Amino acid sequence: MANTLIALFLSSVLLFQVMSPSFVSALSNDYYAKTCPNFEHAITGVVKKAMANDNTVPAALLRMHFHDCFIRGCDGSVLLNSTAKNTAEKDGPPNISLHAFYVIDHAKKAVEDLCPGVVSCADILALAARDAVSLSGGPSWEVPKGRLDGRISLASDTRQLPGPVFNISQLQQSFSQRRLSLDDLVALSGGHTLGFAHCSSFQNRIHNFAANSDVDPSLSPSFAANLRSTCPIRNTVKNAGSTLDSTTTIFDNAYYQMILQGKSIFSSDQALLTNSRTSALVKKFATSQMEFFNAFAKSMVRMSSLTGGQEVRLDCRVVR
Ligand code: HEM
Ligand SMILES: *[C@@H]1O[C@H](CO)[C@@H](O)[C@H](O)[C@H]1NC(C)=O
Ligand SMILES: *[C@@H]1O[C@H](CO)[C@@H](O)[C@H](O)[C@H]1NC(C)=O
Ligand SMILES: *[C@@H]1O[C@H](CO)[C@@H](O)[C@H](O)[C@H]1NC(C)=O
Repeated sequence: MANTLIALFLSSVLLFQVMSPSFVSALSNDYYAKTCPNFEHAITGVVKKAMANDNTVPAALLRMHFHDCFIRGCDGSVLLNSTAKNTAEKDGPPNISLHAFYVIDHAKKAVEDLCPGVVSCADILALAARDAVSLSGGPSWEVPKGRLDGRISLASDTRQLPGPVFNISQLQQSFSQRRLSLDDLVALSGGHTLGFAHCSSFQNRIHNFAANSDVDPSLSPSFAANLRSTCPIRNTVKNAGSTLDSTTTIFDNAYYQMILQGKSIFSSDQALLTNSRTSALVKKFATSQMEFFNAFAKSMVRMSSLTGGQEVRLDCRVVR
């Protein structure tokens, strides 16, 4: 009797392990402990060197990882080149300002030199994004590993990314489709403490905003005037735009303080004040950088645990 019960118990445990996808695809901190120990230093070294040459690299890596995770899970699909038959994500319409792909190529090369064919491009990107944040003065955290690289990258999929004109319900829907909460939305939007936006991304707020007001009334008037002079209605300067907060290369909580002052760049940033829960979090993070850092690290682990790939690529731009 006891034996039968034990057998039943064991077989149900086994069945559970086989059937539960979270078991099969679970990421872990020591995933490469035996196959590629200490490779994370190689990535950090490459990111550090690239940043020293170009201070826009951290923002690029963080946004690249976000785009990767929001389309087919964090599977390195954003890194794939277009081919004769296929236009890849990176050549899709919201690719504006995706850049610094070469940093991932260099990191992959450094890791391949240590242990060929072992570490996925998706894991390398997740680690590079973490390093980009911590090397810019932000928090650091352990990145669970074991992502696999995907074989599909479609420009048309980039339509699934949230847009800068999204309101709070559209943002909430985009995040909840990926099992991310409103709290994750507020914390991860803090990624806008780094980097830059082109005029086209916030054009809607500064020209023809509504029938009765040319400018979004939630913008500070002086701030809006500055944006309008950088981005006239017929803008001819190709790379004109604005930094996303006042300290564009420093990972801090200035982004949340600027939202409260009517100095956020996107409608989607401003929208965080239109819901009582998200608005309370914006205020909390504006006051406490430590609360922001803790929440950001936690939400990054959640976002970067969306998985979806099948292989370990040798060249991050090409399927195997
Ligand atoms: C909540 C929804 C989001 C929307 C609607 C959004 C939208 C945008 C847009 C339109 C740009 C500017 C593109 C350009 O004009 O060049 C941008 C830049 C950026 N975004 Fe987001 N984003 C969102 C969430 C995130 C998240 C979750 C992260 C990372 C955790 C992130 C990190 C960045 C960074 C770092 C940049 C600057 C990129 C650079 O300077 O190269 N964003 N975002
Ligand atoms: C991928 O595309 C980039 C930019 O177009 C090009 O420089 C690079 O050689 C391509 N790499 C591969 C492996 O196709
Ligand atoms: C973005 O896509 C356009 C085509 O839609 C392409 O010409 C351009 O090179 C792409 N930019 C990057 C950074 O990949
Ligand atoms: C957000 O936009 C959608 C689509 O335009 C609209 O249906 C919805 O009512 C809006 N929600 C809010 C809270 O404004």
